[in-house]
Amino acid sequence: MSEPQPTYLSDYRPPAYRVTHTELTFDLDPSATRVKARLHLERHPEHEPGAALELDGEQLTLKAIAIDGQPLDEDEYALTDTGLRVHRVPQRFLLDTEVNIAPEANTALEGLYLSNGMYCTQCEAEGFRRITYYPDRPDVMATFSTTVIGDAVQLPILLSNGNPVERGELPGGRHFVTWDDPHPKPSYLFALVAGDLKKVEDGFTTMSGRDVTLQIWVEEENLDKTDHAMASLKRAMQWDEETYAREYDLDLFMIVAVNDFNMGAMENKGLNIFNSAAVLTHPHTATDAAFQQVEGIVAHEYFHNWSGNRVTCRDWFQLSLKEGFTVFRDQCFSADTNSAPVKRIQDVSFFRTAQFAEDAGPTAHPIRPDHYIEITNFYTLTIYEKGAQVVRMLSNLLGWEAFRRGSDLYFERYDGQAVTIEDFVGCMAEVSGLDLSQFMRWYSQAGTPEIDTQGEYDYAKCEYRLVLRQRTPATPGQPDKLPLHIPLRLGLVGTKSGRDLPLTLDGESLGSDTVIHLREEEQEFVFTDVSEAPVPSLLRGFSAPVKLRFPYGREDLAFLLQHDSDDFNRWDAGQRLAMLALEDLIAAHRNGVEKVMDTRVVEAFRGLLATETDDKAVLAEMLTLPTEAYIAEQQALVDVDAIHAAREFVKQSLAAALRDDFLRLFEENRSDAAYAPEPEQIAQRSLKNVALAYLMAIEDDQGIELARTQFAADHNMTDVRHALTLLVHSSRTDIAEPALKAFGEAWAHDPLVMDQWFSIQVTRPQPDALERVKFLMDHPAFSLKNPNKVRALIGAFAQNRVNFHRLDGAGYRLLADVVITLNQLNPEIAARIITPLTRWQRFEEPRQELMKAELERIRAEELSPNVYEVVEKALA
Ligand code: TRP
Ligand code: ZN
Repeated sequence: MSEPQPTYLSDYRPPAYRVTHTELTFDLDPSATRVKARLHLERHPEHEPGAALELDGEQLTLKAIAIDGQPLDEDEYALTDTGLRVHRVPQRFLLDTEVNIAPEANTALEGLYLSNGMYCTQCEAEGFRRITYYPDRPDVMATFSTTVIGDAVQLPILLSNGNPVERGELPGGRHFVTWDDPHPKPSYLFALVAGDLKKVEDGFTTMSGRDVTLQIWVEEENLDKTDHAMASLKRAMQWDEETYAREYDLDLFMIVAVNDFNMGAMENKGLNIFNSAAVLTHPHTATDAAFQQVEGIVAHEYFHNWSGNRVTCRDWFQLSLKEGFTVFRDQCFSADTNSAPVKRIQDVSFFRTAQFAEDAGPTAHPIRPDHYIEITNFYTLTIYEKGAQVVRMLSNLLGWEAFRRGSDLYFERYDGQAVTIEDFVGCMAEVSGLDLSQFMRWYSQAGTPEIDTQGEYDYAKCEYRLVLRQRTPATPGQPDKLPLHIPLRLGLVGTKSGRDLPLTLDGESLGSDTVIHLREEEQEFVFTDVSEAPVPSLLRGFSAPVKLRFPYGREDLAFLLQHDSDDFNRWDAGQRLAMLALEDLIAAHRNGVEKVMDTRVVEAFRGLLATETDDKAVLAEMLTLPTEAYIAEQQALVDVDAIHAAREFVKQSLAAALRDDFLRLFEENRSDAAYAPEPEQIAQRSLKNVALAYLMAIEDDQGIELARTQFAADHNMTDVRHALTLLVHSSRTDIAEPALKAFGEAWAHDPLVMDQWFSIQVTRPQPDALERVKFLMDHPAFSLKNPNKVRALIGAFAQNRVNFHRLDGAGYRLLADVVITLNQLNPEIAARIITPLTRWQRFEEPRQELMKAELERIRAEELSPNVYEVVEKALA
């Protein structure tokens, strides 16, 4: 097999031919769907005549080809594994092709495939080339007219992009619907759905007074799980009008839920296709977190209609142009709809755990990579989440008003075009007059910048001197890094007053909370007229995606936890304080020394529990210890067992010392109110459930009984799942087992609940987790062909710190076996699920060797480009 070759950004050339209009006809059949395509093509004015026509195409069986009605002779074109070339074509012409494809054989879930008897498509990034011969690149934008033909009984519903314009009966019990999409779009936004679907319908009147029909299409049994998605969609439409003045542009907006889907959801024009896990909710089947996730994803896909569809990407290297901006937009939407500080806390803790790890590992890449082998490998946390952080930095640098003007300019100037990151940042520079040239390095430089900070208060001069030093560690292919333009939001909290002090820098008065710009490798800031000794509150709101170090003492952190006016930094101070204690305990565990709990952490928690709070959701976050994955991310080399032991010890020590407080908190926040996914209820439930986790930590009879009662009360999935997880993750198997069994039987019919049932069991710290995975892989509800199941069972197990990293290597072996099978079935998922193995350098021996051995075993297989690219990087 020849090695897969990379594609380079520097090789970008505009297309020689553009498609002005695309007509498609699908005659649906599981093993032989006939796709007829008529492309209206013309040579790009800047291209010289005589250029051959190159079209992409994979796994297609060509049945007919003609230009302007004239069938081509075999010597007039050439077919390869990856496409079709017509040697000579006129300047403007019609190309007709007819191909056969086999949806039922499509397990990769790219292109046209079958899910539960339902036809659906996934074309981003390069799936359209598995449907028909086409210039499958985002800078070719055409209007589409699509006719879908199918069996009238089995496939009563036939959907595609845009508006339905014609429908009718055909011989042989078949029928058809023709759809017209008037907005030019790239092929990756094409969609088709056909099946026995039912709809929920609602409406929205846009700001200019146009009525839009909103439909959510699902299988009949899921009709009662669409309310929340519909409400979220309407909120998102409203928000985008109010916040960005963006209005929807068709008469119809459809969402379809499918069970087999590689990612969360897809923003196809007018016809968003969703993983059922990202759209269906019901109080009895979905947790608060799932409700919030659905809201965010519905909004994300809707927002793409402007940031992605109306203005799209020139090439896939610009992916973060649409994804970073759209994630930023959905994060702001969720912050406005829920508790803003909690949204920020959750996003940042996820970011610092997972994106930092990616940026420090062998697959680290810039937000705009300069080459790739397989583009689906680049739908990463870096492109999405770091991309969003960078857009957030722009909005903070410019201020909201200027940022909005920049965004207006971007949407106006580039409407209907396929553009680059320079075009976007250029608009921001143009409206603000800011020089963003150094800022552009954020797009080309991989790795997480580290900032070392020193602060000193001069009592005599009433000055506070802050010295900042930035450094970005080397990443693969980028040994030397340049200094970045980093906005640091900060305040100085007076140790006497407990208040933010007024800030004066270079004679300029800056209020009590300001953004300083770090541009040099080392830079000094001297704040004058500082009337009392302060503790600095740095990087407020996580104003830049960096690791910031400051030699805080434990008293400083306890002080900030109490007094910082920035909720995010209050939370962060608590996390840092817990980390200091955890680090001591990790060392004690490794040295075989008796563990002693730091009383300052206990007292800080006691203080938190004693304060009246109006934001219970923030308090719940503050009472939550850093996860084992986050703690691991802070270590030079990861000792899995020491981290687990240290965290358990802290949890149990806090539970023992503050038992009465947790009990009171639990009782105070219990409620029999009817479930609603509303911020106040969610906050109350999360606080109650944090308390329950502490009450269960020592596994005494009372804790067990509270969890068991909450499980049995069956009030809503948030409470049930939390209680069940606590029981299953405890050592009281006698109580957990019957609960697990009852739950599994009660929900055997619901795939999304079964996903949770799988995950709960295989994340338990008890040593039988791996055996459970093996056993559950034979469960009738499990299938390696369904990505949700793979994530729920295998993906979840790989997050099980102690058991995935078993010292006999059995956890690694199991994951590698799954990767080898999935490499053939679904390469995209195979290349994602392998991630934990690629982090081998972070672990101590013998785990490094064991993980590497599994990667090498995978490398010896005949690999898809997807898995090949990841494994080669991991072993480089
Ligand atoms: N554009 C989608 C989103 O972020 C992502 C996506 C959905 C995707 N399905 C995919 C990307 C399949 C690659 C392959 O909203
Ligand atoms: Zn997206």
